[in-house]
Amino acid sequence: MADGSLRFRNDELDWRITIHPGDADDLAYLGWDVGSADGLARATEAIAAAGCEVHGGDVALAAIRGVEDVAWFLDPFGFRHEFTHGPHIGATPFQPGADCVRFVTGEGGLGHAVLIVPDLDAATDFYVGAMGFGHSDDIDMGLFVRFLHCNQRHHTLAFSTVPGMVGFHHLMLEVTDPDVVERAYARARADQVPVAMTLGKHTNDEMFSFYVRTPSGFEIEYGAGGRLIDPDDWETVRFDAMSHWGHEAPSPPLFPGILRPASWTDHT
Ligand SMILES: [Fe+2]
Repeated sequence: MADGSLRFRNDELDWRITIHPGDADDLAYLGWDVGSADGLARATEAIAAAGCEVHGGDVALAAIRGVEDVAWFLDPFGFRHEFTHGPHIGATPFQPGADCVRFVTGEGGLGHAVLIVPDLDAATDFYVGAMGFGHSDDIDMGLFVRFLHCNQRHHTLAFSTVPGMVGFHHLMLEVTDPDVVERAYARARADQVPVAMTLGKHTNDEMFSFYVRTPSGFEIEYGAGGRLIDPDDWETVRFDAMSHWGHEAPSPPLFPGILRPASWTDHT
């Protein structure tokens, strides 16, 4: 694009990922499709009620994002979220970089994002209470991770806590075929892309995946076979392990994603 940003599509939409030039490697924003103008009104009302300033009605921003309408806000930790509806469909059919690749998106969205937040309870209050996510489950293995859903995908947002810090750990992209995952893993190894976690299968969402570290410091999880859930009939549980097998970190492990001091302070 004219401003130097790069857009990537992985299905029929014009694009789902944008990389913007910037002074620092960081997560610029997360986009959430709330389905309709009514959905946007309800979602922004809940965010405003939670005490966040909501910025809406920006036609130019909607055009830049390739959606009918958008409203954005900063969550209590400073992450920028953008509620949207009416994404643009690409003028041409999606052509994957490799013929065998089909991404799992649709109603389940792009994949999932994992954040690092300074406070577990405050994050749960905001993402569940204000943004409306459902609580899928937790993994507690010394490291604690909480998983949230907003559709049939087992989780779309997850977070771990590091006191005083915020960060972006990884973005997950799912494909339909486990063989594609194994091929990508072999290619990452052959090309000496930094592998943050080897092939493995997660306990909670049953994803068969591996993790690579991007040049910006966050990780991409690339996998297949993620579990689908029924959000209306779901019981929250706790796991004591992250994976059934695999997902081994190198020694010494890579730094876990992008991490920076939080400007957020606990006023409770
Ligand atoms: Fe993940």
